[in-house]
Amino acid sequence: MMEDLAMHILEILMNSIHACAKNIKFIVQDSTINDKISMSVEDDGKGMSSEQVQKISSPFMTGRSTRKVGLGVAFLKGLTEQCNGDFLVESEVGKGTRVLASVQKSFIDTPPMGNLGEIIMECIQANEEIDYIFHYMTDTNEFVFNTKEIKKELDGVSILEPSILLWIKDYVNQQVNMIKEDEG
Ligand SMILES: Nc1ncnc2c1ncn2[C@@H]1O[C@H](COP(=O)(O)OP(=O)(O)OP(=O)(O)O)[C@@H](O)[C@H]1O
Ligand SMILES: [Mg+2]
Repeated sequence: MMEDLAMHILEILMNSIHACAKNIKFIVQDSTINDKISMSVEDDGKGMSSEQVQKISSPFMTGRSTRKVGLGVAFLKGLTEQCNGDFLVESEVGKGTRVLASVQKSFIDTPPMGNLGEIIMECIQANEEIDYIFHYMTDTNEFVFNTKEIKKELDGVSILEPSILLWIKDYVNQQVNMIKEDEG
């Protein structure tokens, strides 16, 4: 069972990876003022028709052949409904997809954020060719992580080196926590 927001978002990120995206933008907006956590995943993958988009949040639409139900999107949509949030999918065939999900931050059933560094590490590990921009924002602070810049710095060393992947995970979590603490 998925217990935190990061695990739900990983499903959405994995959908972008499976849709052959080359670039994925992942934004988390953690706002105390608006009492809202908003998450968006934007990709330049194969996209969906409006018919597919309409069906996407029903558990019976899936690209899987091993089982009949795809649950990633339906689960996240259900969670946003349970947690006084919003859910939106925008997509265009050949252009890409954007999934927007939000939850009420102070709501009692809203799960914890979870390990953002971990899911970013897992995505990078899934396909090193894909580039990610990750934005984490609070009301007063912002952290941006860009794999293109990291790859440039690595100067030929693979981003899949275990020590690099672990550094990325720790670095992302460190920066996210620093910003959160700063918020008070
Ligand atoms: N970013 C995306 N780009 C293109 N198509 C997508 C995207 N996200 C979802 N889809 C389409 O919507 C379907 C449903 O996605 P969902 O994550 O709910 O199920 P799944 O990926 O098929 O299975 P599961 O996530 O349970 O492994 C996918 O099979 C895919 O066809
Ligand atoms: Mg999926």
